[in-house]
Amino acid sequence: MKIAVLPGDGIGPEIVAEAVNVLNALGESFTLEEAPVGGAGYEAQGHPLPDSTLALAKAADAILFGAVGDWKYDSLERALRPEQAILGLRKHLQLFANFRPAILYKELAGASSLKPEIVSGLDILIVRELNGDIYFGQPRGVREAPDGPFAGAREGFDTMRYSVPEVQRIAHVAFQAAQKRSRKLTSVDKSNVLETSQLWRDTMIDVSKQYPDVELSHMYVDNAAMQLVKAPKSFDVVVTGNMFGDILSDQAAMLTGSIGMLPSASLDKANKGLYEPSHGSAPDIAGKGIANPLATILSAAMMLRYSLGKTEQADRIETAVKKVLAQGLRTPDIWEAGTQKVGTREMGAAVVAAL
Ligand code: IPM
Ligand code: MG
Repeated sequence: MKIAVLPGDGIGPEIVAEAVNVLNALGESFTLEEAPVGGAGYEAQGHPLPDSTLALAKAADAILFGAVGDWKYDSLERALRPEQAILGLRKHLQLFANFRPAILYKELAGASSLKPEIVSGLDILIVRELNGDIYFGQPRGVREAPDGPFAGAREGFDTMRYSVPEVQRIAHVAFQAAQKRSRKLTSVDKSNVLETSQLWRDTMIDVSKQYPDVELSHMYVDNAAMQLVKAPKSFDVVVTGNMFGDILSDQAAMLTGSIGMLPSASLDKANKGLYEPSHGSAPDIAGKGIANPLATILSAAMMLRYSLGKTEQADRIETAVKKVLAQGLRTPDIWEAGTQKVGTREMGAAVVAAL
C-alpha cells in the first residue's frame, strides 16, 4: 500500500513527521512517499500543486496531508497561493465528501471554552460537501460593476452553485453515516434566502425517502451557528455545503477545547481519501516545536480505517492517543493546571510508546 505524504507549510512538516513515526511503529509494510505541496510546492517547483505531487497523489492508495498556507504568499496571484493546492487536490481527485468529527475527549472537558455540562460527551460528525458551492462556482472575478447603485465601481463576485446530482451524492454519504450512528441527520442551509439552498433542501428531502430509518431535519445556517454553542449535543450528523461546512466545522472543532485534536477525511466515491488535521498551518507557531500532532496522528488512524481497511491498527492508534491524554500529557493548546506540558516531538513519541 502506497501512502502519499504531503507535509506542506507552517507546522505541517512537524506534525506530519510525528504521524509518520506512528505509522512506521505499526509494523505494517506501507510505502510512504513524500512530495512538496502548498508554499513548499511553490518554492520547489513554482506551483502550489506541482504536477509530480498531483501524480503521486493520484497513484497512491491514500494521502496524508499536513497543512498549507503562509502569510508570505498572500501577495501572489490567487492561482499560485498555497490554498490552491488543497482545493486542487480535492477537485482533481473528486474528493467530495469531507468528514469532520468533533469529539470531546473526557480528559479535555476543562479545555473547552463552554461549560463542561454543555459539552461533556460531545460527539458530532459534520459531513461537508467539498467539490462545489461558491468555492468553485463560475463565473467569478473582479470587474466593473455593470449595474446597481455602484455601477462602474470595481466589484468582486463569486457564484454559489449546486446541481441536483452533486447534492444527491453528498446526501447519500450523509444518510449512510447517520445510519451507522444515531440515525439523526441535520441538513444546514440558507433556503430562506438562497435559491441554491432551496434546491439543496428539496434534494435532501427527496433522497431521505430512500432512508426511512433516518430522521432528517433542516436548519438555517445562522441558527445552526447559534445552536452549536447553545446546545451542541442536540446534533449528531450534520450535512452541509462547502462554505457553511468550512465555517461550522471550525466552530464545532473549538467546542472540544482545541482544533488541534481533530482529524478529517476527504473521500471520493470509492473511499480513496485525503487525510488532514482540521486545523491549518499556524505559521505563528511553526518551527517552535509546540504544535499539537494529535489531529494528524488521528487523521492517520482515519486513513487506516476508511481507505486502507486496517480497522485494528486504527483502533490501536486511537487507544494510544487516549492513553497519553490519560497520562496527563498536553501540548500548550490543551494544557491546563495539573497536567504536564509537552512539545510536538514528545507528544508523538508518547503515542509511539503507548502503541
Ligand atoms: C479547510 C480550510 C480550507 C478551506 C482552505 C485552506 C482552503 O479552511 O480545509 O477548512 O477553506 O476549505
Ligand atoms: Mg476551514
